[in-house]
Amino acid sequence: MCGIVGYVGKRDAAPVLVEGLHRLEYRGYDSAGLAVLHRGRLQVTKTAGRVQDLRDKLKSNTKATLGIGHTRWATHGEPNEINAHPHTDTAGRIAVVHNGIIENAEHLRAQLQGNGVRLVSDTDTEPLAHMIAAELAAAEASTGDADGADTVGVSLEEAVMRTLRHVEGAYGLVVLDTKHPDQLVVARNGSPIVLGLGEDEMFVASDVAALVRYTRQVIYLEDGEVATIRATDYRTTMLNGGQANKQVRTPTTVDADADDYDLGTYQDYMRKEIHEQPDALRRALLGRLDDRFATARLGGINLDARDLRNIRQIKFLGCGSAYYAGQMGAMIIEELARIPADAEPASEFRYRSPVVDPDTLYVAVSQSGETSDTLMAVQELKRKGGQVIGAVNVVGSAIGRECGRGIFLHAGPEVAVASTKALTNMAVSFALLGLLLGRVRDLSAASGHRIISGLRNLPEQVNKILHNEEEIATIAHRFAQAEHMFYIGRVRGWPVAREGAQKLKEISYVHAEAYQAGELKHGPLALIHRDMPSVVIIPSDDLVAKNVSTIEQIKARGGPVIALASAEIPEGLADAVIKVPRAEPELEPILLNVPLQILAYHTAAKLGRDIDKPRNLAKSVTVE
Ligand code: G6P
Repeated sequence: MCGIVGYVGKRDAAPVLVEGLHRLEYRGYDSAGLAVLHRGRLQVTKTAGRVQDLRDKLKSNTKATLGIGHTRWATHGEPNEINAHPHTDTAGRIAVVHNGIIENAEHLRAQLQGNGVRLVSDTDTEPLAHMIAAELAAAEASTGDADGADTVGVSLEEAVMRTLRHVEGAYGLVVLDTKHPDQLVVARNGSPIVLGLGEDEMFVASDVAALVRYTRQVIYLEDGEVATIRATDYRTTMLNGGQANKQVRTPTTVDADADDYDLGTYQDYMRKEIHEQPDALRRALLGRLDDRFATARLGGINLDARDLRNIRQIKFLGCGSAYYAGQMGAMIIEELARIPADAEPASEFRYRSPVVDPDTLYVAVSQSGETSDTLMAVQELKRKGGQVIGAVNVVGSAIGRECGRGIFLHAGPEVAVASTKALTNMAVSFALLGLLLGRVRDLSAASGHRIISGLRNLPEQVNKILHNEEEIATIAHRFAQAEHMFYIGRVRGWPVAREGAQKLKEISYVHAEAYQAGELKHGPLALIHRDMPSVVIIPSDDLVAKNVSTIEQIKARGGPVIALASAEIPEGLADAVIKVPRAEPELEPILLNVPLQILAYHTAAKLGRDIDKPRNLAKSVTVE
């Protein structure tokens, strides 16, 4: 998804902006650009390629100290140089970078064209530059302030606010005015903007990843908030609140540093993040296991024993992998706490006028904490009086703040588009929630202890799986030419199959479909033949014999089988076997998922895919 950076200070702005954009590349983009103020004039550089092309194109002698930059993920208009941001007004006074979608863009474009303005791009962003310039010109004309210096009512901020009152839709934006060379104006409505506070310099970005190299002191803008930032100060105000509400907010410290975003010895982030899982798991468990009462400690959810006992149902809401993690969570919680639990895609939930039950605990699941569909579902829930907690990885993100309470995932920054360590930490966090809910109900202390020790074993067991990477890679290479694949599971294996198929299709573009094993014979069996491999998931549960018979059914029809098994299965039954260490049965989905990440990774690697930035996908989808 699009990325924004901005800088005002003493440094050479262009390299700072390029570095920031480079840090945002992981979000997915198709073009990039930046604008700096050089000797009173805008200098705009754009490319329909990568940030590296932008770096190559830049003139080295700018020495500008004010600028804005952008990586674009096309929505309005194809990805080309003209449509890349920043966008400017006709005179080249104003430059704007924007994330999100302006919904009344067509209307704004038509209005401007009606007034004789020539629009050069097809974007929904360009109108903003013309409108802000027009607001400034009109205000300056009426005060006779031709050089545009601040006078009462003619600030850049005021012009931006006046413009935004005509704008419908979602935005995070940064505005540069050549006649206000000491400042940038930023605004947020539905698309994240974070300010980074340095010493005599100020940064702005859509994601802290762009900032951590320079500062860890940040301020997350709220929806409807506008700010003017200068090298040494900033003020925020509400779009609808007027000047009286101006405030200086207390910064928060980001829980990550530049190293977390470095590849180190790895070639790509996905593999690095797969290998970080043992550590990520340890962090998710840290301080949360209570040996004395054989339960979990989750202070952030803010629910006491009575509240926990009153919960009649758990419902997870998320998108993509976060939804599948919710499905794993629902499975684990039903088992540990015997409370009905399920998961639903957040987008479905918000569009279907759901019945919101006050005794249901809703859990909004999101790595980024910025996914628009999930955020909207939370807002809808709150409107209807539902109780909702967040399960997010990025502290300070919109969903975390909107929920106000929840479970932080502590996976550390996740850069690759395909979620691995965050997903694992989601599932383990839900096991903790299940343990906590179970222990205020029927789960015995002995079972609680068993789960606690099972959780403690997970990091080492994941390590064992990682040691097996080469073997899994060999299997991946053997089947990499398949055009389609089935992922088959039942009960505990079912959410694992769904997430496994998701991982494969996301990064390798091999068509993968998950099916419940029992459903095979009701349709999909017709597709089984020698070019259609199936990954069959076999946890060590009561259903091993059934899963073995599923493999036999597939084999009988000539379909190759990769068995992913923590259980013992007959020798020679499957064409390939990936062995997984045995965990406590309820926790097995967490472990079984890891080899499927590795399988997908090595399939994609063999096929030469851009693993961290799969085509058409973005790390967090902050627009509809
Ligand atoms: C995008 C990504 C998925 C991810 C989903 C949810 O669609 O491509 O990999 O699972 O967003 O992201 P979130 O940040 O809310 O967990």
